[in-house]
Amino acid sequence: MEELASSISADAGNTSGDLITVGFSQVGHESDWRTASTNSVKEAFSQENGFDLQFVDCDNDSEAQLESVRNFIQQQVDYIIIDPIVATGWDTVLTEAQDADIPVIVIDRTIDDSDKYTAWIGTETKNEGLAAGAWLKAYAEAKGIKDLNILVISGTTGSSAQIGRTEGFDQYVESEGWNKLDEQTGDFTQDGGQKVMESYCKSYEGQFNVVVCQNDNEAFGAVDAMKAAGVSYGVDGDVIVISFDACKAGLQMVLDGDINADFQCNPLQGPDCAKIVQELAAGQDVPAKTYMAEPWYAHDDTVKSVSYTNAAGEDVTEDMIVVDQSIVDAGY
Ligand code: AHR
Repeated sequence: MEELASSISADAGNTSGDLITVGFSQVGHESDWRTASTNSVKEAFSQENGFDLQFVDCDNDSEAQLESVRNFIQQQVDYIIIDPIVATGWDTVLTEAQDADIPVIVIDRTIDDSDKYTAWIGTETKNEGLAAGAWLKAYAEAKGIKDLNILVISGTTGSSAQIGRTEGFDQYVESEGWNKLDEQTGDFTQDGGQKVMESYCKSYEGQFNVVVCQNDNEAFGAVDAMKAAGVSYGVDGDVIVISFDACKAGLQMVLDGDINADFQCNPLQGPDCAKIVQELAAGQDVPAKTYMAEPWYAHDDTVKSVSYTNAAGEDVTEDMIVVDQSIVDAGY
């Protein structure tokens, strides 16, 4: 789905020398997803491709991220790319970029309190949560599981990935009357997922049969914690495990049956982002929004497809792909 950008003129930005200078303010290095995202942008914005990329890892610190963008403005880079840690608090610094005539491209997560950027490339995270809810409903029906007692390990609070996945999944919690026992943040990290799950295993011993991890790294930690606590999980266990991202290691766990279903969030946004910057540099219009395609994966074909009303209000039916070794090998 694409819309044409209108908020900032397409030919803004001044190239220096032969290379286009680009500042990239990245969230951090919290997950396998993040590593793939960083690599994708670094590869696409190589010198061979005509770019001089300055990369800042903000280590999940929102203040540091605002400062990194201000530093890029001060350095008068030609373009700024932001993957926003949180969805709000952006209008002032984006106004500063606009006043300096530096186009901003937002990738992955969204900015929800300002429209002062030229383009966004990413995924509809509410659809990820909706698809997970639709899959769990169909899976429980197929397996004859009547009561769902759910623990959620959420991502970084206030990030659009956390907000969207929660909103989408909670729609099913409410409509189906599921029992959501608790939701605590694991900050999208393995360590965070493990700590939250260790505490859940003590507080909710014997009371839960679903764990929703809002990314694969949290699922790695959660599974380790359940193993240590003697809780059985996955396709042959007592606890259904749902995850998001579908990175290579996550897909391997789906194949092994440790994760039942994994809903991809595509991190490979570098090439589309570089194309947009090149088009802007050439004075062309660019799409205001670009959605990455994202498949949904499961260990088996108990649920062959999911049907739901997506965030755009469309009724959709999408395949659940059964993971095999070739899918794992091709993963990011
Ligand atoms: O914004 C994308 C999310 O951030 C991914 O799901 C997660 O792995 C990352 O940390």
